[in-house]
Amino acid sequence: MSNVRFDATEVRDEGIFQSAKYGKSEKITRDYVETAIGHVLKKIDQSLNQFTDQFPAPSSNNQVYKAIDNVEWTTSFWTGMLWLAYEVTNDEKYRRVAEKQVQSFKERIENRVSVNHHDVGFLYTLSCVSAFKLTGNSDAKNAALEAADLLITRYFEKAGILQAWGDLKDPKQRGRMIIDCNMNLPLLYWASEVTGDQKYREIASSHVKQAAKYIVREDASTFHTFYMDPDTGVPLKGDTHQGFADDSCWARGQAWGMYGFPLSYKYINDWDLMELSKKISNYFLNRLPEDHVCYWDLIFTEGEEERDSSAAAIAACGMLEMVKCLPLSDPYRDYYQNAAIKIIKSLHQNYTTEVEGEANGILKHAVYYKGGNMGVDESCIWGDYYYFESLVRLLKDWKLYW
Ligand code: GLY
Repeated sequence: MSNVRFDATEVRDEGIFQSAKYGKSEKITRDYVETAIGHVLKKIDQSLNQFTDQFPAPSSNNQVYKAIDNVEWTTSFWTGMLWLAYEVTNDEKYRRVAEKQVQSFKERIENRVSVNHHDVGFLYTLSCVSAFKLTGNSDAKNAALEAADLLITRYFEKAGILQAWGDLKDPKQRGRMIIDCNMNLPLLYWASEVTGDQKYREIASSHVKQAAKYIVREDASTFHTFYMDPDTGVPLKGDTHQGFADDSCWARGQAWGMYGFPLSYKYINDWDLMELSKKISNYFLNRLPEDHVCYWDLIFTEGEEERDSSAAAIAACGMLEMVKCLPLSDPYRDYYQNAAIKIIKSLHQNYTTEVEGEANGILKHAVYYKGGNMGVDESCIWGDYYYFESLVRLLKDWKLYW
């Protein structure tokens, strides 16, 4: 096992440029949160029949998700929304559909259907770890453990990282890690907790520290992806897949970092991860436009480029998680609380499909993959999930599925 070290002091802290923007206390009432959740539930109800045996596509067309089989990296975001809906309403209709979908995830992992990538973390955390934590479902537990066993086969010992995509021998993908993977690691921490076997945790810990060291740049922005030589462990180069340019900062990547590093902190208790999370969050906040919802790449701070509301929702969840981890004396803690609430209010007021009957998405104006012309200025199912999670976090002391 590699003994990875990283040093958060090597990353610069910009501080918060416009401290007045997020320095003033921002309140949100329970009424407001319940109204916003009411809209989410209405949209879920509208799609519940359609998305029982099938799942929403990753992104919409004209705000409408088509139904797909359980084959994408994104299908669990819908199941996760059903578990959130069950938690906040206690209505069995959500649990029934979610449990049906757990069986689909069980078959998917048993039959190895489109699971040759690191996103089994997203898939099995939100569908099955959630089911196990909420209801003790043993099929869900076993399926999630099988997914964790599959995920660790992507680990390169010398490089100390999990390869993101593709076959482990594919020269184009070999040794490539991506910032998004931070969100796949909780599956491994959970697997160690329930089995007592520390190997999952050690792999996750090694990976997150390598990501901290190489994916996060000196100025606290992030590469989307980074290549390591898996045979020697030598760091090679960073580049982008979904961002504007190799040296720009893809907004959703930064948001995956803002949420993913604090999640690893919770499990491995390495304070440097929190120091890093603050720096990358400040970088993000310093590039938000007036309405607090980021452009799809942080190289853009004004003008006509598309926003990515899904990145905004992920960042809001990340900051709310950071608020739970930071001491009251931390100078940035209140900024993150205020910024998260401002983002959530802005999403609710200007980015939801509340009055659009045909739409089965919830958040508008997300971008899946601009360069690939996929899901540009559409709803993305993970954006809907994280928006809902952010509201549930404001409603109650939410116990994480992550
Ligand atoms: N994890 C892939 C994406 O964020 O688009």
